[in-house]
Amino acid sequence: MSGLNINAITKKFGNFAAVDNVQLNVPHGTFVCLLGPSGCGKTTLLRMIAGLEEPSSGAIVLDGEDITPLPTHKRNLGMVFQSLALFPHLSVGDNISYALRIRGASREEQKKRVDELLTLIHLAGFADRPVAKLSGGQRQRVAIARALALSPKLFLLDEPLSALDAKLREAMQVELRQLQQRLGITTIVVTHDQREAMTMADLVVVMGHGKILQAAPPIEIYRKPADAFVADFIGITNLLPAEVDSAGRTTILGTAI
Ligand SMILES: Nc1ncnc2c1ncn2[C@@H]1O[C@H](COP(=O)(O)OP(=O)(O)O)[C@@H](O)[C@H]1O
Ligand SMILES: [Mg+2]
Repeated sequence: MSGLNINAITKKFGNFAAVDNVQLNVPHGTFVCLLGPSGCGKTTLLRMIAGLEEPSSGAIVLDGEDITPLPTHKRNLGMVFQSLALFPHLSVGDNISYALRIRGASREEQKKRVDELLTLIHLAGFADRPVAKLSGGQRQRVAIARALALSPKLFLLDEPLSALDAKLREAMQVELRQLQQRLGITTIVVTHDQREAMTMADLVVVMGHGKILQAAPPIEIYRKPADAFVADFIGITNLLPAEVDSAGRTTILGTAI
């Protein structure tokens, strides 16, 4: 199958299951948001997909290949984390071309790829700028470009926008979504912000206590939350039909809609 298949993955720390028998199929090109409260296992699941954490049991299959035994650098993925570390002493261009450089790409190849990626993130002409001179949003875009330099099969982001202020975060949500659609790359973003998940994702995966509670498109999560935890977490309140008479008295007419 093309895409990512997470097959009965469990991660135990001692007796505690941080990720508990998670099963998920992500078709190629899907934008997934892993959504849930702090401590529910989102980062642990993402780290297992990335090969930074070894599962206690289960398998991760990418485009039909079992990648569970592979080290991170052989998994063909790009990663962006909340506390991203751009190399502060390098220029924007040198940050982006870093992975190409250590793989021995020629100067022309590096420059071509850097220019392509800078155009993609709306920072054309910024190659020689020191990263220290960038704004927070610009730095995050450079981190995204750097992660995409080797055209990975899978793009993994852990709370990538949470350090940005609200207005910039909303703009970046739209940008990230557009970028993902242009590239058609299978993308998994961890977030604890339900609005962010609903804005960006094709598939919202709501987690609680190490388990997947619901995996569905945003509209379906809204219309048919799987249980009270999901409904509560995404902020759905019950709506009841009612009638107000001329004296201002309210009568509830029926069951929840
Ligand atoms: N290396 C570790 N050792 C022990 N417990 C851990 C470790 N990493 C994470 N945990 C625990 O696993 C649970 C899930 O953590 P995490 O995946 O970071 O959650 P989230 O990203 O959803 O906030 C938490 O209870 C956390 O304390
Ligand atoms: Mg986390």
